[in-house]
Amino acid sequence: MATPTTRFHHHHGHGHSSASKVIIFFCLSAFIGLGLIANLFRASLSSHYLSIATNWVDTDAPVVLIPNATLNNKLLQERDVKSVKSVKRMGPERFLSATFADLPAPEWHWEQMPSAPVPRLDGYSIQIKNMFYVFGGYAHLDHVHSHVDVFDFSINKWVDQIKMPKEMANSHLGIATDGRYIYIVSGQYGTQCRGPTAASFSLDTATKKWKTLPPLPAPRYAPATQLWKGRLHVMGGSKENRHEPGLDHWSLAVKDGDALEQQWRKEVPIPRGGPHRACIAVDDRLFVIGGQEGDFMAKPGSPIFKCSRRHEVVYGDVYMLDTEMKWKTLPAMPKPNSHIECAWVIVNNSIIITGGTTEKHPVTKRMMLVGEVFQFHLDSMKWSVIGKLPYRIKTTLTGFWDGWLYFTSGQRDRGPDNPQPRKVVGEMWRTKLHVS
Ligand SMILES: *[C@@H]1O[C@H](CO)[C@@H](O)[C@H](O)[C@H]1NC(C)=O
Ligand SMILES: *[C@@H]1O[C@H](CO)[C@@H](O)[C@H](O)[C@H]1NC(C)=O
Repeated sequence: MATPTTRFHHHHGHGHSSASKVIIFFCLSAFIGLGLIANLFRASLSSHYLSIATNWVDTDAPVVLIPNATLNNKLLQERDVKSVKSVKRMGPERFLSATFADLPAPEWHWEQMPSAPVPRLDGYSIQIKNMFYVFGGYAHLDHVHSHVDVFDFSINKWVDQIKMPKEMANSHLGIATDGRYIYIVSGQYGTQCRGPTAASFSLDTATKKWKTLPPLPAPRYAPATQLWKGRLHVMGGSKENRHEPGLDHWSLAVKDGDALEQQWRKEVPIPRGGPHRACIAVDDRLFVIGGQEGDFMAKPGSPIFKCSRRHEVVYGDVYMLDTEMKWKTLPAMPKPNSHIECAWVIVNNSIIITGGTTEKHPVTKRMMLVGEVFQFHLDSMKWSVIGKLPYRIKTTLTGFWDGWLYFTSGQRDRGPDNPQPRKVVGEMWRTKLHVS
């Protein structure tokens, strides 16, 4: 998108004295301007590929400025962006700040702890008492991790590293625990936007031994996964092409790291599919929170499965399954939020969620990260925004120990005024948590 802007400004820079030249210049500018708008509009449709560089790699591509009159016109054509309504009310003249999606929240004091041995995006985590197991993830697009780093909250140190089985997914996996065994289901195998695997495993954290589980009936990317009443539940996620949302829901009886059945059982499909959601069991209730439809896909024919951006819709929907085994819709998150599968903890009958990524900017189409901490009250089923992280960040791995809320890893923003994704980090932070 940088090229048309440069061209536009380049023509703008020419000075001409004769009237006819001025007219030609304006016609030309209008023509190029229209081309630019058409380009931008096409970019918002699913058929158009954008380089992942715009939101992954450290680039400083200029943000496209859209002339005011056409801005309004363009906004009128937007269908699925909620914020547009308020923009229209404010009138076309109003500049839409890059940070407009940030919600007011108290500043919290955060203390930096030892960083993880490696930075990771799309890593996964499980907390068992004071031990925090951090799985896989991307160091960058062309390198994925295949080990588990272990942090001990009681001494605030990274204390161990466990190799993952060769056949296990590196990212976009489903993960759950019973308090000793960790179950890992399906996910993406390899770098860039490579294909998924249905292979599934369990890890005995006491002996550090792995076992295989029956493969998921079909592979999924980042399916919502939880152990609930003795069964491993796996639902949603993206299908084999990484983009199409899956609605299927399967379960498998498990005990002590072993499957008690040969095959996964079909369960009631989830009302809305897609990857990168939080999936949380609280007694008789199973919650599925946030997520998105659509994701980056491998560029057709690319030998390295190069990631290319596709249309995606981030949402804040909350669904709950209870003993009736019927999905119920609960109040949505304060804003659409995705990439939060390990960004939550349960504290004092509340779910606490840190960071994430929200809907793209309606004008610039840039990805926007989330810097708030959310609380979902399990009694009243109400949401509040309770605090701010040190920066906006997605795919955080979150834990809670001895009154402290911890998070580590993910992809952070470009700075306080720029919510676009930039650096993949392994930093660990904590803050004293007080929830009411
Ligand atoms: C849009 O209009 C406002 C006020 O009329 C002005 O300040 C701003 O510079 C304009 N933006 C563009 C991109 O032309
Ligand atoms: C949880 O509730 C207990 C009892 O009311 C309180 O002492 C504690 O501080 C609360 N924990 C957090 C993290 O707010």
